[in-house]
Amino acid sequence: MNILLLGAGGFIGVNLTERLLKDGGHQLTAVDISKDKLEHLLNAPGLNYAHLDISSDEAKIEELVKVADVVVDLVAFANPALYVEDPVGVYDLNFTQNLKVVDQCRKHDKRLVQFSTCEVYGLTAAKAFGLDSKENPCPFNEDETPLIMGPIKNHRWIYACAKQLLERVLHAYRYRDGFRYSIIRPFNFVGPRIDYLPSEAGGGNPRVFSHFMDSLLYGTKPMQLVDGGQVFRAYTYIDDAVDCIVRVIENKNDNCDGEIFNIGQPENELTIAELAERMRDMFDEHFRQEGDPPRPEIVSISGEEFYGAGYEDCDRRIADVTKAKTLLGWQPQYGIDQVIFKTMEYFVEEYRKKQASGMAAIPAVASV
Ligand code: NAD
Ligand code: UGA
Repeated sequence: MNILLLGAGGFIGVNLTERLLKDGGHQLTAVDISKDKLEHLLNAPGLNYAHLDISSDEAKIEELVKVADVVVDLVAFANPALYVEDPVGVYDLNFTQNLKVVDQCRKHDKRLVQFSTCEVYGLTAAKAFGLDSKENPCPFNEDETPLIMGPIKNHRWIYACAKQLLERVLHAYRYRDGFRYSIIRPFNFVGPRIDYLPSEAGGGNPRVFSHFMDSLLYGTKPMQLVDGGQVFRAYTYIDDAVDCIVRVIENKNDNCDGEIFNIGQPENELTIAELAERMRDMFDEHFRQEGDPPRPEIVSISGEEFYGAGYEDCDRRIADVTKAKTLLGWQPQYGIDQVIFKTMEYFVEEYRKKQASGMAAIPAVASV
């Protein structure tokens, strides 16, 4: 297949590109405004990299859409700190600019695999109605579960709303014109190449795993639990996720057309406080070396202090993955400890390489 991957330079994109190259038999065009994470793949046969911006390079993107068999759109701002800091930018990229890709696919009658998010489900019904979501587990089903957003003043929800509106537009075009699309709703994927370490990037506010790794490797700050870290997340290892994504792209028997797929590992659920404890213990047990910063403290911080005004958290996200299992024959393999171990191993190996070459930032305090 000739596959056009928009946003291929990001965390999911690079892991997906690696897997598709390994499978072979495809012609891949990887589009992004950053190729840092793709550097090791740039000379691979079967891969073309195009440094293009979906917001301003419409004509060139359209040429690529025209010759593709399937378009996979991963482009988005996907980091909660940005939803709070730049809600207009999030709406613009995640809805308006992505809509242009939808229009080009419609114009040239191309199938689109659109990345959405588990955040479209929003809050659990339990939380919305003042019940304890821990005692009222309620898996999110793609075709049944209502989508519950917080108030407008909590502008974190603009990410989920923009993604939800894009999903609704895709559905409307299928309803009216038979447009061929599939939607993927990822549930907290982690693994190699997720985000960055703030100590190495000179600051920034990435997703939680990178923050906790930064505290473990650089000791610049304690592991901070937003509002005590009592919310739940269920982490999915990127290889499991990519295995499902590839099945959606392949679309055997056209059985993914017009379908939304949750991709998640509901058995891997823990609270963020548990994640911090487990990461800290695992680092000590398997990775700690002499000279590393001391075991970091775990402290609580308010959402407003950590993100700024406009933040509200998602309390719990349990994916119902029946559809991916039955329609695609997919089965995730990695349990939560393996997910944490393998992702941590990647960060530590990269850090040790930098240390050995004198490129690592200086840890705040070395242990004795
Ligand atoms: P990411 O931030 O690592 O990747 C996004 C990529 O898009 C980046 O490489 C970025 O440079 C690129 N990009 C941004 N603006 C662009 C533009 N104007 N033109 C071209 N490229 C541009 O994010 P990710 O974690 O890989 O997520 C990929 C997709 O999956 C996103 O749509 C995100 O909302 C969705 N998603 C991811 C997760 C997850 O667990 N990682 C969860 C839910 C949803
Ligand atoms: C993420 C992002 O919205 C998207 O990438 C995506 O849509 C989705 O979830 C996903 O990955 O499925 P979230 O899980 O809230 O949202 O992102 P994180 O930044 O990883 O935060 C997870 C939890 O940890 C939140 O409760 C957050 O408040 C907390 N957190 C974050 C901390 O306690 N400490 C930190 O240092 C950072």
